[in-house]
Amino acid sequence: MKKIAVLTSGGDAPGMNACIRAVVRTALYNQIKVTGIKRGYDGLIDADFIELEAQSVSNIMQRGGTWLKTARSDRFKTSEGMKTAYENLLKGGIEGLIVIGGDGTFKGALEFSKSYNIPIIGCPGTIDNDLIGTDFTIGYDTAINTVIEAVDKIRDTAESHDRLFIVEVMGRDAGLIALRSGIGVGAEAILIPETKRDVNSMLERLEKGRKNKSSKIIIVAEGEESGGAFEIASTIKNKFKNTFDVRVSILGHMQRGGSPTCMDRVLASRMGFAAVEALISGRRNEMVGIVNKDIVFTPFGQAVKHIADLNNELLRMVDILSL
Ligand code: F6P
Repeated sequence: MKKIAVLTSGGDAPGMNACIRAVVRTALYNQIKVTGIKRGYDGLIDADFIELEAQSVSNIMQRGGTWLKTARSDRFKTSEGMKTAYENLLKGGIEGLIVIGGDGTFKGALEFSKSYNIPIIGCPGTIDNDLIGTDFTIGYDTAINTVIEAVDKIRDTAESHDRLFIVEVMGRDAGLIALRSGIGVGAEAILIPETKRDVNSMLERLEKGRKNKSSKIIIVAEGEESGGAFEIASTIKNKFKNTFDVRVSILGHMQRGGSPTCMDRVLASRMGFAAVEALISGRRNEMVGIVNKDIVFTPFGQAVKHIADLNNELLRMVDILSL
């Protein structure tokens, strides 16, 4: 293998830059040239390529976002888009591709691999942590730390005013950000898409709870089925007018930014390094993961099967610890 390419795709995630750096430096160490593809699969279709040297990736590891930029490409879902992408890879002399992204990125890679013969290795980069085949995805640790920093501040004002706050966090299809950050902030309740929870009985539990508790925080994932934070707030206002003074806070895209934590930088470095070595050893169409500290590989088709089984013990624990 003489030349590979790397791209980031889908929602950005802190740590993507550390992963790009690891890919570039590992490839160059092995005398393999590296092309950076800008703006994900859109850049692949437009041949928006840049040749990378060791120095190109200096001083990017600590920065949030993705230096290569990213996109959610609709064109790559079409057969014409894929054909152009493949032609551009051939023209560029690229013999292997590393894609850093989440669910949508690997679904795209899987479809592409059915029609075109180029080895692809994926590195899981998404704040959602919703892929099978890795304990953690790049960006998740930073995102949940961003959430707890914000919610700790909300707790201060909630406590001063004796208020109930509904804090909406990211996760269109997955509740892992809500679950882990909710435990981290001592939330009184957590609502996530994977588990059906009756909002009314949850509120009755909160109402019956310790009377001298002055603040309450409910963490809700954006994809939760009862319709999001404002919907839940209006249910509470209607049913428990005189019990709770309710406010809503939507954390939004701030969760995707910021300098990656040490854990994300190390995770991203290990995954980028392993991805290049995987291409060299002849692996293809798999996602790199780390399970119980070890590097493992999962075929794209399995990695994107959505995690439905959350640890219900954790939710049971939340109810008990927040009494
Ligand atoms: O996939 C990461 C994620 O941040 C999800 O948690 C969220 O639902 C989605 O991306 C938002 O995407 P966009 O920035 O395209 O609106």
